[in-house]
Amino acid sequence: MNLKDLYIHFFVSKGHIQIPSAPIVPENDPSVLFNTAGMQPLIPYLMGAEHPYGKRLCDYQKCVRLTDLDSIGDTTHHTFFEMLGNWSLGDYFKKESIEYSFEFLTKVLEIPIERLAITVYEGDEKIPRDEVSANTWKSLGIPTSRIAYLGREHNFWIPGSSGPCGGDTEIFYWRSKDDIPEYFDPEDERWVEIWNNVFMEYYQTEDGMVTELAQKNVDTGMGLERVVAVLEGVDDNYLTSVWEKPRKLLEELSHLPYEGNEESMRIIMDHIRTSVMIAADPAGIKPSNTDQGYILRRLIRRAIRHARKLGMDVLSDWDTQLANTFIDLYQDYYVELKQNRDVVLNVLKQEKEKFNRTLEKGLKVFEKVSTNTDSIDGETAFHLYDTFGFPIELTKEVAAEKNLKVDEEGFHKMFQEHQEKSRTASVGKFKGGLSGNTEIETRYHTATHLLNAALKKVIGPSVHQMGSNITEERLRFDFPCDHKLTEEEKSEVENLVNTWIEEGIPVTKETMEKNTAIQSGAECMFIEKYPDMVTVYTIGDVSKELCGGPHVQNTSELGHFKITKEEASSAGVRRIKAILE
Ligand code: ALA
Repeated sequence: MNLKDLYIHFFVSKGHIQIPSAPIVPENDPSVLFNTAGMQPLIPYLMGAEHPYGKRLCDYQKCVRLTDLDSIGDTTHHTFFEMLGNWSLGDYFKKESIEYSFEFLTKVLEIPIERLAITVYEGDEKIPRDEVSANTWKSLGIPTSRIAYLGREHNFWIPGSSGPCGGDTEIFYWRSKDDIPEYFDPEDERWVEIWNNVFMEYYQTEDGMVTELAQKNVDTGMGLERVVAVLEGVDDNYLTSVWEKPRKLLEELSHLPYEGNEESMRIIMDHIRTSVMIAADPAGIKPSNTDQGYILRRLIRRAIRHARKLGMDVLSDWDTQLANTFIDLYQDYYVELKQNRDVVLNVLKQEKEKFNRTLEKGLKVFEKVSTNTDSIDGETAFHLYDTFGFPIELTKEVAAEKNLKVDEEGFHKMFQEHQEKSRTASVGKFKGGLSGNTEIETRYHTATHLLNAALKKVIGPSVHQMGSNITEERLRFDFPCDHKLTEEEKSEVENLVNTWIEEGIPVTKETMEKNTAIQSGAECMFIEKYPDMVTVYTIGDVSKELCGGPHVQNTSELGHFKITKEEASSAGVRRIKAILE
């Protein structure tokens, strides 16, 4: 069994339910481009919402972290990674969590106890020093000399600047062949962190206010690739079994050995794998110049440039072959890879063709510039972006190789001027004919709030929005529910919504402080993602939600509400599509 299976098997044997990995692109959280931790899709449940699968969960979650983008090419960084996680949602706490981790590491993975060391939270003025965790570790046989107490910067975990949070205990592994020192020094890089158990019992607001959560949770995260490297005893993550097939394929395709060409090969493998994962995501991301699409574009183009650097024929099917290898490797774990194989291959093909038409010419610009000056001015960098499709990061990378500086500020100035021009153009277009659409979408926004309220009444209070999408044609709404809705339930929901529409209930909008809004009972999913002042929309006593709007002024404006489809979105999550007639 591989590590993913061993991990899930172990936690299932301890009463956890395996939940599927959430999509890599969060569905209703515009503040982050990608999921960066296993807990991210679980925030509502850590805050107290009831999870349809219960209080003990485990999974492997697809994550993308962009902070590491510039470090790709070294031995340990990846833009895509899988996080193994187990959660207690108000169930067990520190003692059991630590005991489970210890048992998994020492019994299942058979890691000798001498190779483990631990950090725990030393506490602060509000949160006590974590003696419970320290004592639990000691009771399991970890000597005091291998336990270190550290402060907030190390042993306190929070997703970003606000959210559910708490002190944590981190598990380290002695990765070196050197003798293991008796005293654990967390600064010594031969100790590598392999697992983080966060004890989430607090909520921290943007302004630093800490309150107790309604329940005490456990959130753990283990980076799969790092642990595999540790277990297989290699210093370079790309030399583990995880990368064996793509690495060998790349050696064949380039007719070069991995040794001596590590940097470009790591970049190519990492970037193609991440591109595969993003392009296969149900969000349907395509290369573009904004948001996730821009990241996808950057990854593909950088991979192409490095393939070229290795002397590969970039127009051959090297990228498709690599992508297929990754899809084969992961498709049993992430079914969307199987379903979207053609989509992924098409994304790669089209982006390559697009970039290839200008890549050569763009690179010539560098040659020309480097004979005259030692820097790329803002105008040239923008020209490379606009005409030759060079993301600024790629321009910087190629420039650095040629010892050229890049006037980034100049680039951004040109970029903004350009944006300004196209915005003015699109505002003109908007005035010309798009305003009608907004009205329909506005009606769907309000209908979504009514649908949410009706589902709560018919299915139960644990219903809440897990995803929402509105087009001119329909609304789409995802919510937790463990069964297919019956015909009766569907018509009950429709009837409720239509009754509220017929009653002609006024929709009111108020702006207030976030905390006041929450205390007044307004519904919101990602509390920490909202600014301090928020807008709350109230529909009589039917619904009260934090929402950016826009909404109609009275429910009577909506027309007749009809559910057109009810289906599974993922395990434990149902999806409704509905129209207004
Ligand atoms: N959420 C914790 C982390 O990402 C477990 O490290």
